[in-house]
Amino acid sequence: MEMLNIALPKGRLGEKVYSMFEEAGFGCPSIHEKNRKLIFENEENGVRYFWVKPSDVAIYVERGAADIGVAGKDILLEYEPDVYELLDLDIGKCRMAVAGPGNFRDDRRKTLKVATKFTNIAVNYYNSLGRDIDIIHLNGSIEIAPILGLSDVIVDIVETGATLKENNLEVLETIVPISARLIANKANYRFRSESIEKLTAELSKKAVKQND
Ligand code: PRP
Repeated sequence: MEMLNIALPKGRLGEKVYSMFEEAGFGCPSIHEKNRKLIFENEENGVRYFWVKPSDVAIYVERGAADIGVAGKDILLEYEPDVYELLDLDIGKCRMAVAGPGNFRDDRRKTLKVATKFTNIAVNYYNSLGRDIDIIHLNGSIEIAPILGLSDVIVDIVETGATLKENNLEVLETIVPISARLIANKANYRFRSESIEKLTAELSKKAVKQND
């Protein structure tokens, strides 16, 4: 039997995702072994899991190295991979937001300096508002940028809001809600549609339950 290749995001979200897959009947007991292995198979259930960086899941799926995977909506909006988005798993919930000092007032006569890891999302958002921006791409610790005057505001993920608060920043605008999505490679989906559809159906029951 052909194995279903599944890319999972390494970390806390990935652990949660795997539990959902296990409950859906796609378990792979060897994944619980304490070691540094990154690939796990269960021939009985026809699944092969691998752990990758959360931001890489969509690359594996888009290129077909993984048939399916789980990626945050932030990654999908930022990189716009050519994949099917099958299901909102309703976990890993947070939002993409504009944040800055609480007293920040936008002066539209000036170009707005925006620091972010999510360049595409920020550019699309400000384009939709017809607002000129100077985009500053950073790879992490974005919250520091407005404090040091590198930027006026930031575009970043906000979950609890603790990181912003501890750096004296506030949410100024919410751009879009974010959650984890089940994605599939477009070509592989046709060959593996039976197992992918079964998994999607089982997971969608779970997603509904979590909402109750
Ligand atoms: C994200 C984001 C914020 C933080 C927000 O970083 O960049 O720094 O989470 O969470 P909070 O609202 O609950 O404080 P993440 O932990 O994903 O890692 P990163 O710094 O590598 O982006």
